Amino acid sequence: MNNEELIEQIRAMRPWHHDIEVNQTLSTGKVFSPDGTLLPADNDKVSMISPRGRFESRANKLYPDGMAGKRFLDCACNAGAYCFYARELNAEMSYGFDVRKHWIDQAKFVQENRDGFPADRIEFQEMDLYDLPSQDLQPFDFTYFSGIFYHLPDPVTGLKIAADLTQDVLLLNTAAVPESENPLGMSMVYESVDLVMSGVHRLAWFPNGPEILVEILKWLGFKEMKLTKDVINHKNRRRLEIIAAREKGRLSELSGHDLT
Ligand SMILES: C[S@@+](CC[C@H](N)C(=O)[O-])C[C@H]1O[C@@H](n2cnc3c(N)ncnc32)[C@H](O)[C@@H]1O
Repeated sequence: MNNEELIEQIRAMRPWHHDIEVNQTLSTGKVFSPDGTLLPADNDKVSMISPRGRFESRANKLYPDGMAGKRFLDCACNAGAYCFYARELNAEMSYGFDVRKHWIDQAKFVQENRDGFPADRIEFQEMDLYDLPSQDLQPFDFTYFSGIFYHLPDPVTGLKIAADLTQDVLLLNTAAVPESENPLGMSMVYESVDLVMSGVHRLAWFPNGPEILVEILKWLGFKEMKLTKDVINHKNRRRLEIIAAREKGRLSELSGHDLT
């Protein structure tokens, strides 16, 4: 496809959540504006993010010599940005899955048309997290569990599924609803299953804070944890990112608040 055809296709495949480079001049965001900004009002209320910087700052600290020989898993991969970035760091392979065909179609479209960046040894699958164990996959080294915990009817089982496949480091990024009187609890909500960024099971749980996530991660066998993001948004929801490692000392190069 030439650039004109790519632009037409990318426009037709809206909404996009991930701004991903397709070739040296084009990204899925730059189709809409020179700096890749696409406002939710023009994108079916979906926010467009350019997550390369955050991914690379974490991965470069965890894997300073690159990701050669490492297997990368992205749960709820959306359009697959993190899988592409892991391969750019020379990961042995990336495996991403998402429950929605819309996002997996985007991921596969970018993979087929990526020029000047690695697009091989990446597998995308349309699948519910709860069906992951049936795939009989080999363990992964680095797992992303970003933006999915609070879309699940049973998030502990969901996180366990990902953790059981993770032999080195897991990144958990989730929204939380602060409940200072019950930091070890979770708050239930019903969410719409029609929104493309939501879950598909209607019942969902927000953790009340990092404390409960630390206890779950410890129970899952992680020995070291760092809080690498903690911000409060306009809806009084907290956005937390915790990076957890199987071995103590593994996160020494990462900046963040030690939770262990
Ligand atoms: C908030 S977005 C996060 C996207 C991406 N992980 C990121 O951090 O940029 C939530 C994603 O989770 C997917 N999702 C929701 N429930 C899922 C499930 N049970 N299994 C797999 N994917 C799911 C949605 O389709 C959507 O792509």
